[in-house]
Amino acid sequence: MTESPAKYGGRPVRTDVLGYGRQSITDAEKEAVVDALDGDYITRGPTVNQFEERVAAHVGIDHAVAVTSGTAALHLSGLAAGFGPGDEVVTTPLTFASTAHAATYTGATPVFADIDPETRTLDPDAVRERLGPDTAGIVPMHYAGYPADIDVFLDIADDHDLTLLWDACHAFGGTWRGDPIGAQADLSIFSFHPVKNITTGEGGMVVTDDDELAARVRSLRTFDMSYDVPGHEDEPWYQVVDGVGYNYNMTDMQAALGLAQLDRLSAFKRRRDEIAARYDEAFADIEGLRTPPNCETADPMYHLYAVEIRDGFGCDRTEFVNAMHAENVGVQVHYVPLHYHPFFQREYDYERGMFPEAERVYEGLVSLPLFPEMSDEDVEDVVRAVRRIHRHHTA
Ligand SMILES: Cc1ncc(COP(=O)(O)O)c(C=O)c1O
Repeated sequence: MTESPAKYGGRPVRTDVLGYGRQSITDAEKEAVVDALDGDYITRGPTVNQFEERVAAHVGIDHAVAVTSGTAALHLSGLAAGFGPGDEVVTTPLTFASTAHAATYTGATPVFADIDPETRTLDPDAVRERLGPDTAGIVPMHYAGYPADIDVFLDIADDHDLTLLWDACHAFGGTWRGDPIGAQADLSIFSFHPVKNITTGEGGMVVTDDDELAARVRSLRTFDMSYDVPGHEDEPWYQVVDGVGYNYNMTDMQAALGLAQLDRLSAFKRRRDEIAARYDEAFADIEGLRTPPNCETADPMYHLYAVEIRDGFGCDRTEFVNAMHAENVGVQVHYVPLHYHPFFQREYDYERGMFPEAERVYEGLVSLPLFPEMSDEDVEDVVRAVRRIHRHHTA
């Protein structure tokens, strides 16, 4: 096989396409989902309760409320936190749009602050500069699984009496100072989308130690209805709507899958760690390829292996992405910064150039394939593809 990359005339490193992420589903998990279909409830029922209890126990927290997606979890958390019109909520521009929707869905304004280019998470100093009289909360995002600066954000929130809502969609299964991600005040949310650390197909979870926040999220999840109405004790059908609620109920089929996936969480983490360690080693000597940062205070569960293509690599990120695709290796970019999107520009007057660190990091970002079912051969295909593209451009 010629060593020339496929984009420049060689044969691809593989014939079938390797995606950048995907679920891992066993026969036992399929059976668990089918069994759930025989239950009395195929909407939210006892299996959802069990899944919530298991996640709460895993995180070491009082309450876990299952919902239909990470986006729904952000929506309800924003509402429960009391965000609303006139409020400002500070968050990162280097994230998926749903992070900012913890603010926008409630009528609050998402206020972006720049990132720390080392960790790619919200920079606490930049956040301090964006605080004002209308700031109601901060939504840090644990990018790729790497925790945001949790100690400092807890201090900032305490000093300014702000709600902290952690977007931990990437980080389920990791720990910070020995505590599971999600155990930090006030609220955290997870996503169980297929490429995430565990999956329920679609799904999400809000976790909190705060009884009132949990009760509010529970009520909003299911139509904001009360079932025990004073004065109607002899009318068992009597339910009242207290406000504008939603139908964000997770189903028992999804929860059955989630429970089975939880049993495999440690195995998933081990495999993700192994793959990340192999990439770290394989790319250590490549100039112009920045591997993900190490984290001393945390044991992250890496959702993504996001590298940065820099000067010295030999080509830019766009050329690299297209060359990887020609090798049949799927890569992705997380994320086009939120202030580049028409919606945030139109509604909140954001424009390019406002968050230079996020923009500089974005210019080089590429997520390489990382998921537990990757074989060692898959991993080596990725390594070979990266190295041959680099060699081609630097020879
Ligand atoms: C950082 C982040 N926040 C929020 C979401 C939304 O999660 P979901 O797709 O479950 O709605 C995602 C995932 O897509 C995400 O990566």
